[in-house]
Amino acid sequence: QQISPSHHHNISTLKMKEIDIHIRVEHYQLDELNTADRELVDLALKATHGAYAPYSNFYVGAALRLANGIIVTGANQENAAFPSSLCAERTALFAAQANYPDQPVSTLAIVARNANGLLDEPVSPCGACRQVILGVEDRYKQPIRILLYGKKGVYSVMSAKDLLPLSFVDSSMK
Ligand code: THU
Repeated sequence: QQISPSHHHNISTLKMKEIDIHIRVEHYQLDELNTADRELVDLALKATHGAYAPYSNFYVGAALRLANGIIVTGANQENAAFPSSLCAERTALFAAQANYPDQPVSTLAIVARNANGLLDEPVSPCGACRQVILGVEDRYKQPIRILLYGKKGVYSVMSAKDLLPLSFVDSSMK
C-alpha cells in the first residue's frame, strides 16, 4: 500500500492536505494462474460444498496454504441466531492457527456461490474477515496473498493491508 500526499486546489481548504492511498490489484483469468494458485482456488471451490447456509443460501469456501505447504479449507457456517454464524475465511484461518500455530499463512483463496451458481464478480470478503486476515499477517509478520475468485476473473492482492487501508493492528495501540 502506497500513501502519498497530494495538493488540493480548493481555495477554502488551502491548508487541508489530502492523502491518496493506492492499492495494487492484479486481475487474472483462471488459466493465467500458476498451478499452486489454481489448486488453491479449486480447493476453495470444493470447500463451498461444506458450507451450511440455509438462511442466506450463499455458499463460501476458503482455502489457505501454510508456509509448510499444508492446505487448510473452511466454509461459512450459519446458525438460527444469525450473529452466531461464521464466515468461510475465519473458519479456515482459525482452524489453521488452532492446528498449526507455528505456521504463517502464505496464500488464501476465496470462492462463493449463490442460487445461480458461481459469482461473476470476484468475491468480496467482509470487513470482519479482512481484519482477521490482517491479524494473522501481523501475528506471523508475513503478508498473506489473497485470491478472490469470480467467473469474470480472479483478483489478487499481496496483503490484507490492500483490502483494509488505515488499518488497526497491535502496533496501533502503542
Ligand atoms: N460470508 C462468508 O463466508 N464470506 C464472505 O466473504 C462473505 C459472507 C458468509 C456469511 C454468511 O453465512 C453468508 O455468507 C451471507 O452473508
